[in-house]
Amino acid sequence: MILKDILHIYHNELDNLFGNEEVNSFFNLLIEHYLDLKRIHLVLYPEYAVTKEEEQPLFEALAQLKQHKPIQYIIGETEFYGLPFKVNEHTLIPRPETEELVDWIINSHTEHNEASQLKILDIGTGTGCIAIALAKHLKKAKVSALDVSEDALKIAKQNAVLNEVDVHFIHDNILNSRHAKTDLAAVNFDVIVSNPPYVRNLEKVEIQPNVLENEPHLALFVDDDNPLQFYRVICEFARLNLKDSGTLYFEINEYLGQEMIALMKEFNFKDIEFKKDMFGKDRMIFGRK
Ligand SMILES: C[S@@+](CC[C@H](N)C(=O)[O-])C[C@H]1O[C@@H](n2cnc3c(N)ncnc32)[C@H](O)[C@@H]1O
Repeated sequence: MILKDILHIYHNELDNLFGNEEVNSFFNLLIEHYLDLKRIHLVLYPEYAVTKEEEQPLFEALAQLKQHKPIQYIIGETEFYGLPFKVNEHTLIPRPETEELVDWIINSHTEHNEASQLKILDIGTGTGCIAIALAKHLKKAKVSALDVSEDALKIAKQNAVLNEVDVHFIHDNILNSRHAKTDLAAVNFDVIVSNPPYVRNLEKVEIQPNVLENEPHLALFVDDDNPLQFYRVICEFARLNLKDSGTLYFEINEYLGQEMIALMKEFNFKDIEFKKDMFGKDRMIFGRK
């Protein structure tokens, strides 16, 4: 079949769901992933034909897109902070807002890291995106990353290899108070960062079906009546396990900014600062021990 004709089928079937431009971008990603063809190929060779075998994954992907499966899960990969990451149904798809959090940490700690080897911990690492991007850019740093999901950690470990960085991965439940006794307790971190689950069940109505039906709920949702559960435990952990003047960074729920300030003050964090994401929402917070 002519490749361009398959693109026409994509537009016929998907434009009403995603719009013309996004469908083009899906198709480009898919032909690159399955056929190793750059998008310019379609322009240069408008009559380029593919075999039955080659077209099969494109039609399978079309069916999945119609079911709102995220393109990243279909091709099993995405990009974060300019780096390649594998993803699957056990890992959250890294978001652009989280790239901003990583950027904030890198910009604030590059000099510090040159002077001394920073010890960094990422709590709830998922694909490992935060930990791996930090390890890649703060080269001397010693980075550890923790997650309760063994399946997510499998992907995170593959991503560390893919990006040629050394990250110490830990399988653990941060809500479990026995951390004081684990190897983590002895480290004395310079930086602790977390993008924990923070979406309240009551906010599910605002969540797109592609997210709700495909991304791991373990990574996203918290109880309506205890939405800061992870933040409280992590603040407590950070009080004990950060060096004096060590820094704590969180990605946060845009609706709970004031509650987050109160919480960090309760744990005596200083220099508390918000940062807005590219959409102007209070999305990140920082505090110093
Ligand atoms: C919002 S996702 C963040 C993933 C990744 N850090 C990112 O920014 O894309 C939250 C992560 O926390 C993990 N998680 C959930 N409950 C946890 C727990 N009790 N202890 C440790 N990690 C947990 C989930 O498996 C998930 O990977």
